[in-house]
Amino acid sequence: MRVKQTVFISMFLLGLALAYKVRPQETPVHIGFLLDNLKFERWQRDSKLVQARAGELGAKITVKDAEGNDDLQLQQANQLLDAGVNVLIVVPHDADKAAAIVQAAQRKGVPVVSYDRLIKNSPASLYISFDNVQVGKLQASLVLAAAPQGKFFLIEGAPSDNNAHQFERGQKLALEQAEATGSITIAGEAWCRQWSRAEAYEATVTALKKSGGKISAIVAANDEIAGGAIQALSERKLAGSVPVSGQDADLAGVVRIIRGTQTMTVYKPLGPLAKRAVDAAVALARGSKPATSESIPNGPYAVPAILLQPIPVDQKNLGATVISDGFHSAEEIKRALAPGEWEKFTSRKR
Ligand code: GAL
Repeated sequence: MRVKQTVFISMFLLGLALAYKVRPQETPVHIGFLLDNLKFERWQRDSKLVQARAGELGAKITVKDAEGNDDLQLQQANQLLDAGVNVLIVVPHDADKAAAIVQAAQRKGVPVVSYDRLIKNSPASLYISFDNVQVGKLQASLVLAAAPQGKFFLIEGAPSDNNAHQFERGQKLALEQAEATGSITIAGEAWCRQWSRAEAYEATVTALKKSGGKISAIVAANDEIAGGAIQALSERKLAGSVPVSGQDADLAGVVRIIRGTQTMTVYKPLGPLAKRAVDAAVALARGSKPATSESIPNGPYAVPAILLQPIPVDQKNLGATVISDGFHSAEEIKRALAPGEWEKFTSRKR
């Protein structure tokens, strides 16, 4: 009788485990990590950090680079789902089109973590990112502090990226009052498909032509775009006199801040983002719900979310943030500068 009971109970528990796709602790979780692209410094760093954390948790991880192509990203998602991954971490190229990835995963009972960028109108199991509206506010307010009057030009990221719209919203919120008082006017706005530096350069050349070179400030959505805008400014000997914002604390962005051609960048510590995303992914794969700080409306769904705080960086706090965190070492920055530039920067009292 006791044997029958034990067999019955273990069959029942196994049935439960299978029904809820709960993975016994010892079976390594297999994570599928879908990236929009690996051409930008930022995503190369995310990829390394996510893989490192997966390794620390004994999880298997397969990384796919969609090279900015939606069809390829969906194909890669289906390949990973067919390969039996237990959870997907997705950086969507297109916020709307990527909903098809969540649908495909749902059909297989596989949870999806929407990483850094929101997959819109979809029941992702978790959205983890930074407060992107705050990113935009920081960009515009530091540029406004440097240029309280005049014509502002906004250069946004990819229209397909939900973050780009949040950055823009934050920028406009921060400029609202100055616009209302007439201190500034928004002379123009451009969007750069694929976050392209080349499109940012072209848009700035056009804006400078249209305004007869009278652009007082450029609110650029990330360092890549800032690089294109500053190239156009430097061709007209305006680099350094027109404040420009950025984001991501790319090495090139940090160098421009030290040289004074870029006013600021928004530093987003990626270690905590990657760690919390992987920890949550493994928890979801094991059938438990990761602790979240909030939930955000996402079309018909409410998606659990974790939003981290971005950090504004300029010449004054570069050392105490990006360098002290080891995001870029002083050595690495020094190598990217011309001889003597680092010494001149570090010796200058700010
Ligand atoms: C955004 C991201 C930014 C920037 C940009 C271009 O979604 O939040 O950090 O890197 O993509 O890749």
